[in-house]
Amino acid sequence: MAYGHGKVILLGEHSVVHGRPALAISVDRGAEVTFTRLEDAEHTTLHIEPWGVDVDSGVETNEGREPLQQALRVARGFYDDDVDLALSATMRLPSGAGMGSSAALGVAVLRALDEARGLTRPDGEVYERSLAWERVFHGNPSGVDNAMATHGGVALFKRGEPLTRVVPRHPVSLVVAYSGSSSSTKLMVDSVARQYEREPERIGKLFDAIGAIVMNGKLALEQGELKSLGQLMTMNHKLLSALMLSTDALEEMIAAANEAGALGAKVTGAGGGGCMIALVDDGSRHAVAEALRALGKTVYEVESGS
Ligand code: MEV
Repeated sequence: MAYGHGKVILLGEHSVVHGRPALAISVDRGAEVTFTRLEDAEHTTLHIEPWGVDVDSGVETNEGREPLQQALRVARGFYDDDVDLALSATMRLPSGAGMGSSAALGVAVLRALDEARGLTRPDGEVYERSLAWERVFHGNPSGVDNAMATHGGVALFKRGEPLTRVVPRHPVSLVVAYSGSSSSTKLMVDSVARQYEREPERIGKLFDAIGAIVMNGKLALEQGELKSLGQLMTMNHKLLSALMLSTDALEEMIAAANEAGALGAKVTGAGGGGCMIALVDDGSRHAVAEALRALGKTVYEVESGS
């Protein structure tokens, strides 16, 4: 079975697209892909559960699924042979929720295509190939989701640079909750890019401020200063809100998490819907998760580097 990790961004989404660092953590959920060979076929198929989605690289168009079909063709296009497969994916992540589902699926599909050919490719090459997959869905990915989907763990990411592993002094516990509405990473990334174009100086300074929060967050993680990390997450959230990336539902969830004793809480991923994360400790984990469940939200509990 081939696997791609899901992730959450602890600090630094969006500014990471514009060259600032981000801090991310993989979750113990991801995409799993298995394969069977198709004899005498000239196409590769992909079935995805629990989404009930099917795409076929060989047919003219999979209506409504064109980007996924295109991504599958990109992945298949890396091989100049006649090995064709029926791929079957199990997604243990919500889609459009900021947990890196498309990158996790891309990495798992690419690894399955290699596995079927008896190839073991270095992670760096899987990452590069998965970027081509991700570009189909959103034109300008920083690569953070793909790097995390490939490598897992806790890491600092900067566009165009190798991932730097981060070793937290104490385990990091997060409560992740889905707002109930998905969002398009492409639209959210485009919206921030337009704000940056209109006001390069102001938005550039805001990105720099997020970059400084990220570097302080890395130190806080390494030194086991979880209270400081929580405060940095809350500061980062305010800056993300200033970029119009939060929603009423996310604000309500973040307020509920903070009231229930979270050390800090913020939007995670593209925003405009999707998930929020709350940093918790042993004393607050249960109360925060329950407060979010009481709002009718789906809750995932995450331990660092799983
Ligand atoms: C999405 O998980 C993270 C964004 O920063 C986009 C990207 O880095 O490509 C919003």
